[in-house]
Amino acid sequence: MKNYIYIFLVVLVAIYSFTKIDNEWFISLKGFPQPIYDFKNNTLSQEKINLGRALFYDPILSKNNTISCSSCHLQYTAFTHVDHTVSHGIDDRIGTRNAPALMNLAWHSSFMWDGAINHLDMQSLLPISHPDEMGETIEHVVDKMQKTSYYPKLYYDAFADSTITGEHTLKALASFMVTLISNNSKYDSVMRRESIFNDQQANGYALFKKKCSICHSEPLFTNMKFENNGLSYDTFYKDNGRMKITQLTDDSLKFKVPSLRNIEFSYPYMHDGRFKKLSEVLNHYNTGVVHYKNTSVFLNDSMGLSSNEKVDIIAFLLTLTDKTFLFHKKYSYPRNLYK
Ligand code: HEC
Ligand code: HEC
Repeated sequence: MKNYIYIFLVVLVAIYSFTKIDNEWFISLKGFPQPIYDFKNNTLSQEKINLGRALFYDPILSKNNTISCSSCHLQYTAFTHVDHTVSHGIDDRIGTRNAPALMNLAWHSSFMWDGAINHLDMQSLLPISHPDEMGETIEHVVDKMQKTSYYPKLYYDAFADSTITGEHTLKALASFMVTLISNNSKYDSVMRRESIFNDQQANGYALFKKKCSICHSEPLFTNMKFENNGLSYDTFYKDNGRMKITQLTDDSLKFKVPSLRNIEFSYPYMHDGRFKKLSEVLNHYNTGVVHYKNTSVFLNDSMGLSSNEKVDIIAFLLTLTDKTFLFHKKYSYPRNLYK
């Protein structure tokens, strides 16, 4: 009988510690909806997150061991790059799109500017095997990692198996990525009633709700849809966006609505990085929208913003900067894991 009670207690503690980690990351997010990432299929644990973090920062994932995920996704710019318009990969090969900021990914139902990927667990395969990004094969990466002194142990800790597999690699990367949560901006503290906007920010917020939030919806600042926001077609990149995936002409030039959290640091802007400054973005929406057949109806009428109003909207956008997220040690290069 005593034994049964003992086993019962152990099981209880195990269940508690499983849910505790999800709790710690997700349950206390006031004002956020339920994440849609499938945690049942990939239960979070600190060990998996550690492994994913080690992988994210390790150039071993690329063909000649020079490019890591973090080469294009840098923490202090909300996990995008700022030095070029479109991304640069292995052998300095130039891609065709701007790297999106990575945050709050547990709430996304599709990935990439055109939604080419619909599960975060699959996302990492693409950059690893893309000839212009990391130019590797997952099989070869697995081989290389098996021979290191540190990965077999890290995989054992995470999956109770020191034989490295592609599946475990992708799940660990996804585990790290779902923990990239940004919810500590001034905006968030105002929503939690811990702080207040100044007049300019408050005016900007009111304008934002009228003009922008139909697509950049709170609290994630994206409605997760694909929209044509009236950018002129770039005849060099010839990027049709969502149409590339669905082949529907109505999806021509539609791109995934990006979040605007940490927008102060994630320049340049848009799928091709065509705008360097927020003022250029505001000018686009105010007077530069091209009216294609499928440009969003919400952009039909001119926004008619005065220069003061544009400045106020920008002042509001700057309240979406989350320094806790941009500088938190738990997301940084994990030197101590590579031993
Ligand atoms: C050479 C630069 C480069 C490297 C290296 C790179 N990425 Fe990316 N990443 C991009 C670009 C560019 C996109 C957008 C591509 C598109 O829309 O077609 C992207 C998109 C993403 C997205 C989708 C985000 C969203 O909001 O839809 C995720 C997640 C991601 N990358 C994770 C990773 C991981 C994990 C690695 C390492 C295994 C990695 N990336 C390596 C440039 C890079
Ligand atoms: C009809 C939907 C829609 C509306 C309304 C809208 N946007 Fe956007 N926004 C988008 C889409 C779609 C993109 C990405 C387009 C692309 O890259 O091709 C985008 C991109 C952006 C970006 C660049 C983000 C990045 O990471 O590159 C900023 C900044 C932005 N919008 C701000 C605003 C502001 C401010 C308003 C209101 C004045 C606004 N948007 C209104 C759909 C919209």
